[in-house]
Amino acid sequence: MKIFLDTADIEEIRIAARWGVLDGVTTNPTLYAKVGGSYDSILAEVCKITSGPVSAEVISDDVEAMLDEGRHFAKIAPNIVVKVAMSENGLEAISRFADEGIRTNCTLIFTANQGLLAAKAGATLISPFVGRLDDINQDGMIVIRELAEIFAIHEMDAQILSASIRNPLHVTQSAMAGAHIATIPFKVLQQMVHHPLTDKGIAQFKADWTKAREASAATS
Ligand code: G3P
Repeated sequence: MKIFLDTADIEEIRIAARWGVLDGVTTNPTLYAKVGGSYDSILAEVCKITSGPVSAEVISDDVEAMLDEGRHFAKIAPNIVVKVAMSENGLEAISRFADEGIRTNCTLIFTANQGLLAAKAGATLISPFVGRLDDINQDGMIVIRELAEIFAIHEMDAQILSASIRNPLHVTQSAMAGAHIATIPFKVLQQMVHHPLTDKGIAQFKADWTKAREASAATS
């Protein structure tokens, strides 16, 4: 399963890239609002850090305006993927982007049927929001599992991008449920690295090494 970072924070993206685990990035208006500045410049910078897909979200409601926004983003770098929210107009925009060879990520997916429609319209990435479903007492992983099965049975090319990830367990569950990609907040990525026994083990090895060195220095 590929790992994308769900952030518009350049420093977080640089760190994940240095760790060698970054396959792409997703942004949205909320994540952009946290960092501010020029959205275009942020996207251009992110596309220099990773050659993987970088999602840039359109905010217009009508089809022509979505197309204008998306075409503008697509010119920033070849790895830009235009993010379009699920809606009747969104499906039309996705279909037209596909005709133009512009890749899309259909966002705000909460049911397998929405994902199926987005894939049929030509979206490259389908983003079910698992955390927001869990928040309202529905199992978000069911949508991932259903879509994985549907796409496999019908040999559909769209990729499932598990989004709205809130904790490391969501990442493991997404991988096991058949998501092709999980987009992860930086904090959750850090949580995935650590385990109390790993951290304790590192401290113990360091202490034992120092003790052994001191003992050998004292006898030589
Ligand atoms: O990229 C969109 C998605 O990951 C949003 O997550 O935490 O706002 O539900 P959240």
